Amino acid sequence: MLNYSQTGQLAEVTRRIVEPLQQDSGISVHIETLRPLAPYPFPWGFFSFLDAFPESAHMVPPALQALSLKGDEDFDLVILPYQVWFLAPSLPVTAFLKHPLAKLLLAGKPVVTVIACRNMWMQAQEKMKGMLQDCGARLLDNVALVDPSPTMASLWTTPFWLLSGKKDFLKFLPPAGVDAASIAAARRFGLALRDALHKNEERGMAPLLSGLKAVNSNPHLLFSEKAATRSFFVWGKLLRAVGGPGQWRRYPFLILYVIFLITLISTVVPVSLLIQSLTRPLMRRRFAAMKQQFDLPSGSGAERMHLYEH
Ligand SMILES: Cc1cc2nc3c(=O)[nH]c(=O)nc-3n(C[C@H](O)[C@H](O)[C@H](O)COP(=O)(O)O)c2cc1C
Repeated sequence: MLNYSQTGQLAEVTRRIVEPLQQDSGISVHIETLRPLAPYPFPWGFFSFLDAFPESAHMVPPALQALSLKGDEDFDLVILPYQVWFLAPSLPVTAFLKHPLAKLLLAGKPVVTVIACRNMWMQAQEKMKGMLQDCGARLLDNVALVDPSPTMASLWTTPFWLLSGKKDFLKFLPPAGVDAASIAAARRFGLALRDALHKNEERGMAPLLSGLKAVNSNPHLLFSEKAATRSFFVWGKLLRAVGGPGQWRRYPFLILYVIFLITLISTVVPVSLLIQSLTRPLMRRRFAAMKQQFDLPSGSGAERMHLYEH
């Protein structure tokens, strides 16, 4: 199991999932904590936060401190929690997946990805799938936990949380982050994985976490995600040409970009949400098909909830 978290949110989700596995004498768990050589700050500074986007968008990994793994470990199952940074897997997790050891550790292995983010994770999961494929891993399940507040609220509360360290910095909006009840309820995934491991189900191709409301994707966000991914990529390329991470030469361009970004999110996101809500009756079938696709492999069904909801 991988572990990296700045605010402790993803670490708490990870802890809830791993606990039932650790409590089982028949299962041994290895937790690998990722430590970037130059740690990312928390709370973030305004510029350091923005400065992380070019490398996130281009998935240019930072150096990590030495891993405790050697590469010859033979895990039955790999749990891979990650947070989303600028619509891509966070840089420390990307660094692990692009590390030479990742191919040795993950080749042929079943992997369960676990996301805890604001609410835009679909493009990041596509990138994650690509990196897993490069390592020869088999993606069995995906769990996605998101901030339950409305998109237009968390769009502001998330950056204020990350820049101030306070979830309720904007008092007039709901607190930022995944809600405590959803985090506590993530235990059900650990219980289901424990049972699946006892039955060697990880060796098969079927998801281990179906019927547990693992994912509830929102394809209405896809248009905004795609527009923002393209913009991060293009501007990221420009910024990377101007200088490396942390170099002052990037700052004027970052200011320019933030103005562009605020314009983009206060126009494209609400307009795209509005157009989609107006055309919803016409597009219902198409969105339902997209939802089904992004809910894969674990799905949004609830049929096994009664087994593990305690
Ligand atoms: C630099 C940065 C960029 C982020 N970009 C996104 C994003 O594109 N989509 C999203 O849903 N959440 C985004 N988040 C929120 C994170 O996914 C995550 O929920 C939050 O940082 C808490 O993670 P933690 O477990 O590391 O504390 C971003 C966070 C950071 C620090």
